[in-house]
Amino acid sequence: MSTVLGLIGVGRIGAMHAANLVAVRDGDDEHPPVDLDIALADVAVDRAQALAEALGVRAADSVDELFDERPDGVLIAVGTAQHAPLLLRALEAGIPVFCEKPVASSVAEALPVLEAAERTGVPVHIGHQRRLDPGHLEARRAFLAGELGWLHTFRAITADQAPPPVAFLATSGGLFRDCSVHDFDTLRWITGREIVEVDARGSNNGDPEIGRVGDVDTAVALVTFDDGVVGTVSATRYNGAGHDVRLELQGSAGTVQVGLDEHYAGRSAEPGVTFPTGTPWLTFHERFAEAYVAEMRAFVEMVHGERESPCTPADSVAASKVADAAQESLITGTPVRVDLA
Ligand SMILES: NC(=O)c1ccc[n+]([C@@H]2O[C@H](COP(=O)([O-])OP(=O)(O)OC[C@H]3O[C@@H](n4cnc5c(N)ncnc54)[C@H](O)[C@@H]3O)[C@@H](O)[C@H]2O)c1
Repeated sequence: MSTVLGLIGVGRIGAMHAANLVAVRDGDDEHPPVDLDIALADVAVDRAQALAEALGVRAADSVDELFDERPDGVLIAVGTAQHAPLLLRALEAGIPVFCEKPVASSVAEALPVLEAAERTGVPVHIGHQRRLDPGHLEARRAFLAGELGWLHTFRAITADQAPPPVAFLATSGGLFRDCSVHDFDTLRWITGREIVEVDARGSNNGDPEIGRVGDVDTAVALVTFDDGVVGTVSATRYNGAGHDVRLELQGSAGTVQVGLDEHYAGRSAEPGVTFPTGTPWLTFHERFAEAYVAEMRAFVEMVHGERESPCTPADSVAASKVADAAQESLITGTPVRVDLA
């Protein structure tokens, strides 16, 4: 019998998830096909219908119709403000759910979701796709295997090639909540440490409109772990050479760097060094294409009871708390302790 999956919201990221679900359904050289029956819903009904037709899947006439069908799994890819209500609806209906990050517009709004997830025991997968990215997985493996020795320094970088529309930035919650939240999540996930303090600064030397909507185009946070180890997390909207996501973990016995491959959006200043020879990624869609497919495969496996959630709501909220502290530090210009409660 087919596994019925309902995907709500087919905008920029939802359309990509829909296509990736079809790829999981169809299988590839390494993965057998999976019997999936995929239905799409969006308040823009025409958009859902057009995409369903293009992908050869079904469209529901409404979100209510999709829930009435009682699918085996629901995926939520609507704007952030609608995450919590739809998560609660899926949890109360006992339906395993994937939801794009973040869990909610604020930590306070996420608390009922944490409570419902705990009470119902329904599995929830929050979309921090770096947890399914081969490079991040290898860095975690190397760290946990002790190959780096003890960690003394870390540097995380998220650099967009060009800013998204200012209208999006006005509602994004700021650079740390929009971009660096992924770095905060991967640092916690890889090292198993809590981030206890952040001290952030930012600048605006690009489009003045970004400053006018209350955001910065570039920022750096000094991040302190609960064992006293200190590192940096930086982000920018202006990395013309390409989309650059890197994470360097330096330890007493070894160093690894995620994102240092032939697509690296930079060059060596050393004479005679030709690395990198490839074309830089321009968007997060390209950079994490493999991870996004793996994310959909992981969700299907979670629905089938074959694996646990790669990223729980509690994991995601913990990263959001760090992002909130970084944003506060950016505004106040002083170090801010992270609320670990
Ligand atoms: N993990 C990542 O790398 C990543 C990247 C980009 C965006 N996101 C997250 O994905 C989410 C969506 O972002 P986007 O850029 O795709 O947004 P978008 O605006 O392009 O798409 C949202 C879609 O949801 C639909 N929609 C809105 N409310 C709805 C409702 N109540 N019921 C049904 N449909 C509804 C809209 O019509 C639209 O088609 C955001 O929360 C964002 O934080 C995550």
